[in-house]
Amino acid sequence: MKIRHLAVTVVLLGLQIPSFAQKVDVKKAFQHAATQTDLLLKEVEKAKDPKKPQLFSPRTIEDGHLKLVASRDWTSGFFPGVLWYLDEFYGTEHWKAAAKKFTADVEQEKNNGTTHDMGFKVYCSVGNGYRLTHDPHYRDVLVTAAKTLSTRFNPKTGVILSWDHSRDKWVNPVIIDNMMNLELLFEATKLTGDSSFYKIAVSHANTTMKNHFRADYSSYHVIDYDPQTGAVLKKNTHQGYSHESAWSRGQAWALYGYTMCYRYTKNPRYLAQAENVAKFILNHPNMPKDLVPYYDFDALGIPNEPRDASAAALISSALYELNTYSKARKDYRKKADQILESLSTKYTAPAGSSFGFILLHSTGSKPGNFEVDAPLNYADYYYLEALLRKKNLK
Ligand code: GLY
Repeated sequence: MKIRHLAVTVVLLGLQIPSFAQKVDVKKAFQHAATQTDLLLKEVEKAKDPKKPQLFSPRTIEDGHLKLVASRDWTSGFFPGVLWYLDEFYGTEHWKAAAKKFTADVEQEKNNGTTHDMGFKVYCSVGNGYRLTHDPHYRDVLVTAAKTLSTRFNPKTGVILSWDHSRDKWVNPVIIDNMMNLELLFEATKLTGDSSFYKIAVSHANTTMKNHFRADYSSYHVIDYDPQTGAVLKKNTHQGYSHESAWSRGQAWALYGYTMCYRYTKNPRYLAQAENVAKFILNHPNMPKDLVPYYDFDALGIPNEPRDASAAALISSALYELNTYSKARKDYRKKADQILESLSTKYTAPAGSSFGFILLHSTGSKPGNFEVDAPLNYADYYYLEALLRKKNLK
């Protein structure tokens, strides 16, 4: 009788402790990603329009259709990056060939000096290609891309200009997302020995640290600078709830950006910044229990606001790296694991559905009313990156 009672208690306890049952299985998660991505490759072929051959890279689902974008779109490099991460995990010709094919279509962006998004486009595609193949052609593309991105640096502001558009609102807008493009510059200095790329990256990171953050280490989205004096003209949002709110993906870009800057510089100020941003994110009272944030930490309608799985994937990936540098290591790893558990169990698309995207429930722009509660290629990219980082932890 007693033994039976104990057995029932153990079973019930087992059911009540999801962390036992839901530990992330990286292999299983990649199997799902591979199944989905094979479907997406087929869907891309079906969706291609011979009249618009420039559209090739899957970004999201829009009005029930697979949306393909051209290389100039800021997200064009993420799908090639997903393919490189699958190649990294499986090491098969199937994924390598697909990754090379899609990367080739992004390469021309190395000469596009009209946006700061060079790192997103070229580093996530060609950068991963170079890391995994050491193909000297990829190296040359990266160096040219870094040179082009550097033309957007203004020594008077100390930052890289983010956008050429929206001149009705801003003179010289710089967005927190721009931190992510510094990885390409740091890498270009490693590839060439030319320290000018490194110096631009450090200037951008330092100026952003001074002007983009509030006292609680949350970040504004857009800072507008006077291009002649470097004075701050406006502190605004573009994709967040309000100018004074904390747009979730922006906080994630900041966390990832300063963690990555510490990787290249070992400057303790960057480590401290990343730790403080992590504290803001992880201790926020509006952070849901499953650690997948609402699109904005201050959105008015919480808890009835859309989540942003892309921010969660980014935070998880950044925390795995921060965990290797910081004294608070165990906690970061635990939180990163929890995010991956949530994403893998509650946010993945059922196999064979959603045109082959991996994660559901991201938000591109709530104020812009597009890509709300949608799959996004960059959510999938940072999710696979986080899974690989988890796998590679000792
Ligand atoms: N970099 C644009 C975005 O995060 O939506």
